[in-house]
Amino acid sequence: MSHRFEGKVAIVTGGARGQGEQIVRALAREGGSVVIGDVLDDLGQTVADDVGDAVVYTHLDVTAPEDWAGAVALATSTFGGLDVLVNNAAIYRKQLLKDETAADLDKVLAVNLHGPFLGIQAVAPAMRARGGGSIVNVSSLAGTTSYAGHGSYSMSKWALRGLTRTAAIELEASKIRVNAVLPGNIRTGMSPTTASSDTPTGLKRQADPQETANVVVFLASDDASFVNGTDVVADGGSLLG
Ligand SMILES: NC(=O)c1ccc[n+]([C@@H]2O[C@H](COP(=O)([O-])OP(=O)(O)OC[C@H]3O[C@@H](n4cnc5c(N)ncnc54)[C@H](O)[C@@H]3O)[C@@H](O)[C@H]2O)c1
Repeated sequence: MSHRFEGKVAIVTGGARGQGEQIVRALAREGGSVVIGDVLDDLGQTVADDVGDAVVYTHLDVTAPEDWAGAVALATSTFGGLDVLVNNAAIYRKQLLKDETAADLDKVLAVNLHGPFLGIQAVAPAMRARGGGSIVNVSSLAGTTSYAGHGSYSMSKWALRGLTRTAAIELEASKIRVNAVLPGNIRTGMSPTTASSDTPTGLKRQADPQETANVVVFLASDDASFVNGTDVVADGGSLLG
């Protein structure tokens, strides 16, 4: 067992279930302390209780700047600082462009794009105080291609890559790395079907959330110390061919 996160403190949004939960568990297994931020309070608290003292849960609606301030303050008061942010929380929406409304597009952008933007603003001072850090934004394969009915979701995930690049440039001097992960179809509540199995190329199966969590955790760790401002696609090769 490696101890890549010994002495490190992370905030993981959307950590109450799915891929986020696996990220939380992996960080804790490797010695890290974690603040789970989510809006599913019962589920999030259950995960925190299950993992133990290294993990605390807080209500963090990523669209609310005051919740971000609270989560950063909690990380600092409970664990002494902040080194890692994983912007994992998101909502999924499927609607053809002809039927989509600006109001529903705004809801998706608020969580999937404004959320990480507010998070980056909120955590940067605390990371600077530690001499650096790592931010991982969870985009999607829909952030480098798209599919019918994925207009709002795809817009949010493409834009998150632009935010990733800009933040990496602006935070480089503070030794804060910022990268994005673009998972393919993961077996979670967001995507419970076996949709990826019909792709013509690649592994032809959904990812176990642990498999994509591993990629996020790599980028969050010092093993990725020379990786900055880029995307890592974790899709089982579905874009091949
Ligand atoms: N499941 C997939 O196939 C897939 C594919 C590509 C990318 N992703 C991305 O992976 C990430 C994790 O998704 P998942 O599959 O585990 O989905 P999930 O729905 O199981 O988990 C998303 C989590 O985000 C939380 N969340 C939603 N709105 C929030 C808000 N306003 N504030 C705080 N938390 C909020 C949810 O409560 C939930 O715990 C997301 O960014 C998603 O877009 C998923």
